[in-house]
Amino acid sequence: MYLILLGAPGAGKGTQAVTLTRELGLVQISSGDLFREAQKKGAELGLLAKSYMEKGALVPDEITIKMILERLAAPDCARGCILDGFPRTLEQARGLEQALAKQKKSIDKVLYIKVSTEELIKRLSGRWICRNCQTPYHVVNNPPKVAGKCDACGGELYQRADDTVETARKRLDVYFAQTAPLIDYYRKAGKLVEVNGDRGIEEVARESLAALSQ
Ligand code: AP5
Ligand code: MG
Repeated sequence: MYLILLGAPGAGKGTQAVTLTRELGLVQISSGDLFREAQKKGAELGLLAKSYMEKGALVPDEITIKMILERLAAPDCARGCILDGFPRTLEQARGLEQALAKQKKSIDKVLYIKVSTEELIKRLSGRWICRNCQTPYHVVNNPPKVAGKCDACGGELYQRADDTVETARKRLDVYFAQTAPLIDYYRKAGKLVEVNGDRGIEEVARESLAALSQ
């Protein structure tokens, strides 16, 4: 199964991926996580992506599509995967479709997590993520069991540089201009499954699993 998680910055794509990977037995591929890992390693890709990410802009399609298609070729994706944060433009959606079609594969479903804009800013400005495995937490909504430490791996938690209110607003503008058109694109293709992401983490997880099993 190839599943796409679609939603604005802060909608809960990374958060829901924790439950979905476990319940569906698929790996999560997050374009944002891959860029941050490349930065941590000091790789050329990371340095290139950094200049766009710190401004809240999208990394150019050519670079992003290449990175994702290389990752999709790994053996752990042979049965499918959960794509988090990719595609984010129509160009990326088409690039993905063409690559899958060459292997006689296609996207099965697109889970659209819909959240109101005021809620998105609160979520992003209160988020902490694990430096090691990138699991997201929230100071109020989803705190770790031990302050400053990841429940999953014990890694140190930090705040992303692009989670300031100013850069988060820029990311939301970019989302509405460049990514939101994908909602209609996948709805027309009959692949869109929509959930109300304004509710609590567990409720959203339950609704997502129920919607995907239909
Ligand atoms: P990326 O890392 O993908 O960031 P994003 O899309 O902006 O999404 P976020 O990770 O901010 O939000 P999320 O939906 O995962 O929310 P989360 O679960 O963490 O991308 C970063 C940058 O990389 C981009 O700006 C761009 O520069 C570049 N990039 C990445 N992909 C690209 C692409 N395809 N093309 C080009 N450039 C690309 O949750 C947020 C917070 O809310 C957490 O604190 C969480 O605990 C809390 N929370 C989650 N769900 C709930 C809930 N139901 N109730 C209460 N709190 C909740
Ligand atoms: Mg995320």
